[in-house]
Amino acid sequence: MSSKILIIGACGQIGTELTTKLREIHGVNNVIASDINTRNLDLVNSGPFEIIDAKNYNAIKDCCKSNTIKTVYLMAALLSATGEKYPMEAWDLNMNSLFHVLNLAKQKTIDKVFWPSSIAVFGPTTPRESTPQHTICEPTTVYGITKQVGERWCEYYHEKYDVDVRSIRYPGIISHKAMPGGGTTDYAVEIYHDAIKKGNYECFLSENTSLPMMFMEDAIKATTDLMQVPSESLSIRSSYNLSAISFTPKDIFESIKKQLPEFSISYKPDFRQAIADSWPSSIDDTMARKDWNWKESFDLETMTTEMLTQLKKKYNS
Ligand code: SER
Repeated sequence: MSSKILIIGACGQIGTELTTKLREIHGVNNVIASDINTRNLDLVNSGPFEIIDAKNYNAIKDCCKSNTIKTVYLMAALLSATGEKYPMEAWDLNMNSLFHVLNLAKQKTIDKVFWPSSIAVFGPTTPRESTPQHTICEPTTVYGITKQVGERWCEYYHEKYDVDVRSIRYPGIISHKAMPGGGTTDYAVEIYHDAIKKGNYECFLSENTSLPMMFMEDAIKATTDLMQVPSESLSIRSSYNLSAISFTPKDIFESIKKQLPEFSISYKPDFRQAIADSWPSSIDDTMARKDWNWKESFDLETMTTEMLTQLKKKYNS
């Protein structure tokens, strides 16, 4: 029997593209996608799929045992904006799903875990520019609190129970396949869709709000690379800082306008502005570059070209 991979939360923004990439690397039938519902039919029909609620320990355990799953990618979470609306639900989902998977690794049912953290672990007291790997983390969102505490538990399970858990503090991720859901950085995806569909965009952050961001292709490469390096190479078992590009709504607007001269933008900051203001504007990811040779490929201009090309195809077909 070969060992297999389970992705929990496979229908989400990152899960969708991670599933495709892992199936390319390991073979379609060795990667089981799961989510709480079947909302993403393309993904559901692309290979083995199971309905799993990430809060249901027995459902995860049964799936791992019956399919000889050895590696789990836990991508289910409530993000920063949704977490502020449903704080207890965010705590419940984000923490319990992590414990379920870490405990399966502690019992050696599975061998390896990927769990995403976020720039949301940082807060207003963190140095904003080139935020270091080890720094003040006093998050002010429920989502950030779950990610910060989750990081502590990951390191604890690694130290005490020899669990091979690996993690990245993702910046905002920009992609053209599945939409992001409920994050503060979602504007950087919505803006491309509205540029193509409507020719204008109303941005919920102010024009000079700089945040760390990354194109999906880079985020997937970082994730699969991190999971493939030998365990001994890794010096961080909480979560790695990871960076690619930092830009403001004005920067991304100007980059789109170069290719769509009629495009216009207006700014109407809402409650997400305070969240963005509490996060870093750029990240120092020296450790990721040193430990597993991380390097991004996309900058703002190449990302804009790719996003507009793909979305034009999508909306014209
Ligand atoms: N993209 C996430 C959010 O905005 C950050 O991890 O919530």
